[in-house]
Amino acid sequence: MLEVPFVDLKARVAPLRDELDAAVKRVVDSGWFILGPEVEAFERELATAFEAREAVAVANGTEALQLSLTALGLGPGDEVVTTSLSAAFTGLAILSAGARPVFVDVDPGTLNLDPGAVARAVTPRTRAILPVHLHGRPADMDPILACAREHGVPVVEDACQAHGARHRGRTTGTLGTCGALSFYPTKNLGALGDGGAILVGDGELAARLRRLRNGGQSDRYRHEEAGINSRLDELQAAVLRVALRHLPAWTARRRELAAFYRRELEGTGVALPVEQDQVEPVHHLFVVRHPHRDALMAALRERGIGTLIHYPIPLHLQPAFASPGGAPGALPVVEKAAAEILSLPLYPELTAGQAEAVVAAVRDAVQHV
Ligand SMILES: Cc1ncc(COP(=O)(O)O)c(C=O)c1O
Repeated sequence: MLEVPFVDLKARVAPLRDELDAAVKRVVDSGWFILGPEVEAFERELATAFEAREAVAVANGTEALQLSLTALGLGPGDEVVTTSLSAAFTGLAILSAGARPVFVDVDPGTLNLDPGAVARAVTPRTRAILPVHLHGRPADMDPILACAREHGVPVVEDACQAHGARHRGRTTGTLGTCGALSFYPTKNLGALGDGGAILVGDGELAARLRRLRNGGQSDRYRHEEAGINSRLDELQAAVLRVALRHLPAWTARRRELAAFYRRELEGTGVALPVEQDQVEPVHHLFVVRHPHRDALMAALRERGIGTLIHYPIPLHLQPAFASPGGAPGALPVVEKAAAEILSLPLYPELTAGQAEAVVAAVRDAVQHV
């Protein structure tokens, strides 16, 4: 039986070994480890690759979101409307900025923020709308941007799973006021540790973000405002510069694999991700649905296929948020989805044989659940 792990980071780094060793050696030899030439070069290269005016590198995706909200002036008493289906870190970042997340339901097809639910959730205390481009698939941005414009509030995009995805030709993370990226190792563009960045279209906002990530310092030892320590280090920046050069090929391979799964799994009994017009997803995850998801997951495990759930508990039901969205039943679409979704293995290093093994296992497993 061919085992297919859900992720395989050894396979990711093996072909990069010489480039990574050279990058690490360069930093070690330089003796400069924090906020130096590697971070500066990475910010420039990332902004160019993602067609953003500026990119500000930070320590992780969570703080990329938190600092975006802080830089836009959000704090206690402010509400941020966001999706209930995301990594909990999306909501935690809102809390860390001192604001209150207001979780709303998702669209049953895309599993991204439902624009109608956003419009209904806006109150006089709403100070930002925070769509997540979940699973590498762009959210329905036109009505979300229109709603934000109508109410005069900024849009902060969580593009942590959507590196280089496009919505009507524009890169996710550059459609709103700013966009957060995570470079957690399993992300499409991953570091060898934690990392993150903010894509920004406004030079002054970028300057404020650079200050906030470094303790709020305007000059050395002068703390103009209460920032945090959220610096990307030189080693991770050097590693990410290597990875960035490979991202276009990795994305192309993800697209090939997604097309293969879509073709081969059609009509097998699992529901496939819906196709959307005018978007170019980057397939961070390939998420199918089945009414007996847990049994399907177990049957796939027996057949050597690793799967995960992104995410099993909607954020409005997470104890960490003390139920700002209400009790079970409050957001029915996301609650049903969370019980049915299953992420299949999809990463650039997946071999044709492994992809075929996943398809064969799904076809067989659905007969037994
Ligand atoms: C959608 C989403 N938002 C936020 C985050 C937080 O990013 P990080 O783990 O780099 O803090 C992640 C990744 O974990 C994510 O997938």
